[in-house]
Amino acid sequence: MNSHDDLLKKFETDLNAITTLEEYQRLETNYLGRNGSINQELKKIKDLSVEARREFGEAVNKIKQDIEQQLSLKKQALLTTETLLIDVTLPGTPYPKGSLHMVTLAIEEISRIFEHIGFIRMSYPEIEWEHFSFETLNMPKDHPARDDFETFFVNAPPHKTYGKMVLSPHTSSGQNREMLRVGKPPIRMINIAKCYRPNWDATHVPMFHQFEGVCIDESVTITHLKGTIDYFAKEFFGEKRETRLRPFHFQFTEPSFEVDITCDVCDGTGYVSSVIPSASEESSQRRNALLDPSLIVQDDKVKCKVCKSGWLELGGAGMIHPNVLTAGNIDPEKYTGWAFGIGVERVMMMKGGINLDDLRIMYSGDVRFLEQF
Ligand code: FA5
Repeated sequence: MNSHDDLLKKFETDLNAITTLEEYQRLETNYLGRNGSINQELKKIKDLSVEARREFGEAVNKIKQDIEQQLSLKKQALLTTETLLIDVTLPGTPYPKGSLHMVTLAIEEISRIFEHIGFIRMSYPEIEWEHFSFETLNMPKDHPARDDFETFFVNAPPHKTYGKMVLSPHTSSGQNREMLRVGKPPIRMINIAKCYRPNWDATHVPMFHQFEGVCIDESVTITHLKGTIDYFAKEFFGEKRETRLRPFHFQFTEPSFEVDITCDVCDGTGYVSSVIPSASEESSQRRNALLDPSLIVQDDKVKCKVCKSGWLELGGAGMIHPNVLTAGNIDPEKYTGWAFGIGVERVMMMKGGINLDDLRIMYSGDVRFLEQF
């Protein structure tokens, strides 16, 4: 018996001994791998005489083929056995489940509420030109009102017509784009998008979301605006909540308002009772947690720490300024319209039962908080 027969015999003994795919991999490497037995044999060729090389090479190749064939059969057999050993009736390994972020859930709910009354959902660019963010909104260059929307400017060459590139500071930049897209009223749009401003405190974050309602047609009035905001408030917050329009100033609406909603903690009264229990044990506990001794007015009456007045601010609104309609190629003599812009994070903060006192937690990435929604 020569050394090649020995090699083959040893291989067959090793092959018979293996019972798992893991052992199979090791065996395959030992024989056919770069430093395996077959390659070691082939390296010997260079030391042989020219005449002997051919015969030696053929013999090694023959063993190699033999080994490959036997390995292939063994692999098939092992695969079949291991598959049969898997108990498919065992329960799988559970993976932790993700969930939609609370802001995404709020956006879905807001879209649904407005789609029910015929508003078309739009999203306009997050990275915008000054032209759409300011100029078409009756805020010409260097107008001080632009300071109200402290803006992030993008370090990019300005456009000849549209000016500098900005991170959209409000969804109102979609107003002109929608007017140009639709052409002729009626327009009923709900634009929900990301907005950016350099703010960071309990009620402001640098990246937030707004939803902007725009309605333009013949004979559209403030009554329709109030009715739509009331409808939204009752759908989103519940039947008990009331809204009001408070006179304000925006450059792109006239008249302009701030929209307020009654506070859920004090039911719009501005006071909570320190002794009389409220409707449920849970809301009573919530009230007690919010008691602040410095706000006590009488023994049993405490100023509501959440709103201090019975009202919470939701956003801005107003009748679209004639200059804004004109910039959108809409005749202000024939058509009127209203618009509002409200913060998504802000409405989420005010939803009954949530009562967050710091909206930054929404973006903290803290799963213990986020998985509650
Ligand atoms: C505006 O942005 C106007 N474009 C709204 C408007 C639209 C008025 C149409 C008239 C007609 P204001 O800056 O007040 O207005 O922002 C509106 C709402 O966005 C705020 O009430 C608040 O809810 C939300 N908001 C504003 N800045 C932030 C911020 N940094 N973080 C979180 N929410 C914010």
